[in-house]
Amino acid sequence: MINLILFGPPGSGKGTQAEKLVEKYGLLHISTGDLFRYEMGNDTPLGLKAKSYIEKGELVPDEVTVGMLRNKVEANPDVKGYIFDGFPRTIPQSEALDKLLCEKDNEISKLLMLQVPDQEIVTRILKRGETSGRADDNDEATIRKRIDVYKKETSPVYGYYQEKGKSEEINGLGTIEEIFDRLCTEIDQL
Ligand code: C5P
Ligand code: MG
Repeated sequence: MINLILFGPPGSGKGTQAEKLVEKYGLLHISTGDLFRYEMGNDTPLGLKAKSYIEKGELVPDEVTVGMLRNKVEANPDVKGYIFDGFPRTIPQSEALDKLLCEKDNEISKLLMLQVPDQEIVTRILKRGETSGRADDNDEATIRKRIDVYKKETSPVYGYYQEKGKSEEINGLGTIEEIFDRLCTEIDQL
């Protein structure tokens, strides 16, 4: 199995690149943000709970996110591998993910971080907000809060996998194709 973490700040292109990687490598894309948005769209109890955090640009509590992720993984056991997008976002989520994969005699192959400067992120997300219909993409203060949360709570995940020799940094600027080629170069080494 190839199990990838597509990492990086909000708006760094994780979702866009994940779609292309799925096509090329046949992995299952799991975006926890998309899963939350699906639940919110259906007004489920999980969606209602997540909404209060997401609208403020904060993280949903680990146990909620981990439970949802575990369900998704366990519902799709027979795959060539997973691309985790937007997860793990904290150290406890990283530990939970490692434990889950270990139970299946598996592990993370690589964490690929898309590096994009803050101002570019804000520009990209505001642009995406014109069509995404996401409340958290339409307000600059919320976007800045998400970047802040990324730096404080999420960026340590890079170091966590670096200690295991699994973290790689990728230049997230350029065309979609250029960035995709950089990712593929890393993946093809696995
Ligand atoms: O990954 P994405 O940027 O689509 O996530 C949107 C929002 O969902 C985040 O800003 C956060 O509020 C919530 N989220 C979370 N924990 C995750 C993934 C997403 O709290 N692991
Ligand atoms: Mg996304």
